[in-house]
Amino acid sequence: MTAGILFARMEAHRADSHTLERYLATGGYDALRRALAEMTPDQVTAEVKASNLRGRGGAGFPCGVKWGFLAAATPRYLVVNADESEPGTFKDRQLLERDPHQLVEGAAIAAYALGVHQAFVYVRGEYARPARRLQRAVEEAYAAGFLGRGIAGSGFDLDLTVHLGAGAYICGEETALLNSLEGRRGEPRIRPPFPAVAGLYGRPTIVNNVETISNLPWIITHGGTAYDAIGPEGSRGTRLFSLSGHVRRPGNYEVVMGLTWRDLIFGEHLGGGMRAGRGLKAWIPGGASAPWLVPEHLDEPVTIDDAARLGTMLGSGAVIVMDETTDVVAAALSIVRFFAHESCGQCTPCREGTTWMQRVLERILRGAGRPADLDLLLDISDNISPGLRWPPAQTTICPLGPSATAPIVSIMRHFRPEVEARVTRGGAGG
Ligand SMILES: Cc1cc2nc3c(=O)[nH]c(=O)nc-3n(C[C@H](O)[C@H](O)[C@H](O)COP(=O)(O)O)c2cc1C
Ligand code: SF4
Repeated sequence: MTAGILFARMEAHRADSHTLERYLATGGYDALRRALAEMTPDQVTAEVKASNLRGRGGAGFPCGVKWGFLAAATPRYLVVNADESEPGTFKDRQLLERDPHQLVEGAAIAAYALGVHQAFVYVRGEYARPARRLQRAVEEAYAAGFLGRGIAGSGFDLDLTVHLGAGAYICGEETALLNSLEGRRGEPRIRPPFPAVAGLYGRPTIVNNVETISNLPWIITHGGTAYDAIGPEGSRGTRLFSLSGHVRRPGNYEVVMGLTWRDLIFGEHLGGGMRAGRGLKAWIPGGASAPWLVPEHLDEPVTIDDAARLGTMLGSGAVIVMDETTDVVAAALSIVRFFAHESCGQCTPCREGTTWMQRVLERILRGAGRPADLDLLLDISDNISPGLRWPPAQTTICPLGPSATAPIVSIMRHFRPEVEARVTRGGAGG
């Protein structure tokens, strides 16, 4: 873990970093007080726009631009997405557990800017401890006057509700999340209308990720321009990466974007290189949904736009590193099986295609694969996501189906001879 904007209070590994007392002692809620006392909502929005902060939930959409789409009708809502279910991602967990007041303050700043009087944080069902910490922080914030009526001595009212999900990955997708929050089945909605126009209970709604919102106190304290001065164009600010897999030092790291993948995976104070001195085979740069990168990409910059140029994405910031001993077919199966299990079943290409790809990969791993299976896998992928390009074309309501093709396309693109050998030589250990 490294310090910076988001992890500033956690650097000393203090056991009390989640408490109101510690938050106030380190300047906590000063940004909210300042926003309420000295700035209009439009001025707050202007700072967020000037920061060029891009969403950290996956798509990297500019936060200020999204806010600009919020329809004028009232009431309107803010929903913080703390579902964090993308395999390999565990950054929001740390923000919730170790610095929940930063999120509460960020949510209050956003609510003020957006004219919202009711905000929600939708927390992943399995995150019992982070949810408890957040709930406690919300109670402390109410007691101290940072939530409720006339917050921080202003005329602005805000209620914040913590809602626990029930453990479905699809509820991280913003419209499925809104359905779930309304007490309905967690299934994605057809867009348009987008949530900014008709979201929760059909009202204008902004959905932002935990990390996105946690940046706001810093942006208001230091100004949008100061944030915009950090990191390369298009990827401003610091960003959390959850490093996992075969690295020596797995964990969450806050870095300024623009470093290289080599820095991130091999850096002495970051990933620390490969475990047991093994060679690097591949890594998933942005959660299970992202197409993989391989050693020839090590010196590419870690930015949102460079990842897109390479046909992948930084997504949720989950970097899963695989060493030379990794069986790529087994790795792909593990991801495809996850998506098949989590598909909500509304769209035929996703519902049928993910399960079909799972069966073909299982067959190859059993040693019963057929030469035609390789093209079959690509054909099924092409039916879920025509053209097999990135960002994916969609035949489905949401991007989950197309995401399931990422591991297939990756192993065919980078490791086709290895997959072919599995088919010709048979299953395990091939
Ligand atoms: C299948 C699926 C799962 C998702 N899971 C999450 C999640 O767990 N957390 C999250 O913040 N965004 C998730 N997203 C992205 C959200 O739909 C949405 O874009 C995001 O919360 C917007 O926040 P941001 O603009 O701050 O990035 C997911 C998207 C899809 C398609
Ligand atoms: S793509 Fe899959 S998860 Fe998304 S709405 Fe369709 S069936 Fe559901």
